[in-house]
Amino acid sequence: MAARFASSKPPSFFLLGAKVTPFGRAYFSTSIVGESPVLVRDFIHAALYDPEHGYFSQRSGSVGVLDRSIKFNQLEGRKAYMKHLDAIYKQSDTSWFTPVELFKPWYAHGIGEAILRTANLSVPLKIYEIGGGSGTCAKGVMDYLKLNAPTRVYDNMTYISVEISSSLAKKQIETVGEVDSHLKKFKVECRDAADPNGWGIEQQPCWVIMLEVLDNLPHDLIYSKNQVSSWMEVWVENKCDRSELSELYKPLGDPLITSCMEILDLAKDGTTHGSMAGSVARNILAKIFPRPRRCWLPTGCLKLLQVLHGALPKMSLIASDFSFLPDVRVHGERAPLVTSKKDGKSKDHNNYLDAKGDADIFFPTDFLLLERMDHYCSGWSKPHEDNSKSKKGKKRRTLMLDTSSFMEEFGLPLKTRTKDGYNPMLDDFKNTKFYLSVPTHNIK
Ligand SMILES: C[S@@+](CC[C@H](N)C(=O)[O-])C[C@H]1O[C@@H](n2cnc3c(N)ncnc32)[C@H](O)[C@@H]1O
Repeated sequence: MAARFASSKPPSFFLLGAKVTPFGRAYFSTSIVGESPVLVRDFIHAALYDPEHGYFSQRSGSVGVLDRSIKFNQLEGRKAYMKHLDAIYKQSDTSWFTPVELFKPWYAHGIGEAILRTANLSVPLKIYEIGGGSGTCAKGVMDYLKLNAPTRVYDNMTYISVEISSSLAKKQIETVGEVDSHLKKFKVECRDAADPNGWGIEQQPCWVIMLEVLDNLPHDLIYSKNQVSSWMEVWVENKCDRSELSELYKPLGDPLITSCMEILDLAKDGTTHGSMAGSVARNILAKIFPRPRRCWLPTGCLKLLQVLHGALPKMSLIASDFSFLPDVRVHGERAPLVTSKKDGKSKDHNNYLDAKGDADIFFPTDFLLLERMDHYCSGWSKPHEDNSKSKKGKKRRTLMLDTSSFMEEFGLPLKTRTKDGYNPMLDDFKNTKFYLSVPTHNIK
């Protein structure tokens, strides 16, 4: 999550803040894994969301909140902005600031405008937000609609926040409650959005907002010992002395992992498509210079999309997240950053097994894969099918935009411009994107 290295600043500058809660961490990390090994995604889920010890559960401060909006127009330029940011980080000593927080209220207003411009306003507007953090997006979107939408649209709208962390759920009610009239329309459901049991079926059109949520969703890991060996699922086990975690490799069997591999077109036996000569060369290379392969799979995102498409078949989706993360130390394709803060210093870890509830684990989002998973979950595309020849029409229309393009289209970028023209909302955050996905008429 967070405003991490949205610009060229070194990560440590942005990685200020996560509080360390000292008790029981070492025990927690190994107690996540009991007698039986768990899949990597279950380990990550517990490290981030365990109700008692998880990174997001204990501290509402895991999502930083600014006391007041930054007055960009009064800052001279980039240097002044960086100085201001540095001071805020030092004062707050909490955690990261996400873009919706740094650029409040303008970032959320851009999202409100995107919804207003594209929603079918003949039905009451229903917005779901997943992982709303401190509630800044919810408040900003509702403020915007109150001021800019026809009165009946605001009066009849509902905004439902689905938040896994009880401390953040409470914080959201406080934030949105700053405006009395919002409260009647706002509800927080404290639950895991990826659990299908929490949802009914909503047949009406609705919106789903997810800002910096995909990066913190559990992922799985597959491993192959060289360039040609079969992929194996990675599980985490507790070494017998209960103080050390290690990896265990099992043959593929988990349905989410195999679906994800199919969508990625990853051959299960570890081979890659190509010529016979290429395959012979790879076999020889694998014998002489065996190179282990590790590949992270966004199985948490796949599960969430499956659940959302099942529960909200006419949803329109707005998601924003990191398309790329620099200085990642953990190995593997699409590997996460694992960061913690101790004694005022940020630390990037080499191993995800170091996460003990005091560390954030966040992944880059492969937006093309996200689009494939979205089409797959909508029921349009099947892996191994040439969709261009499919008679069935696409069920989703999708669009990927850089944050700057999104904000130029829907936001008010002048509000985040400094005196010399530098605009952090447009000029930084080059490593983040927006994904928009709306239903087409081919819903059968
Ligand atoms: C990095 S924070 C982003 C917060 C906010 N969207 C923002 O941009 O400031 C991720 C948020 O997603 C929530 N979250 C993560 N997984 C979730 C899940 N499965 N269901 C509901 N909320 C979830 C976390 O508790 C947290 O509020």
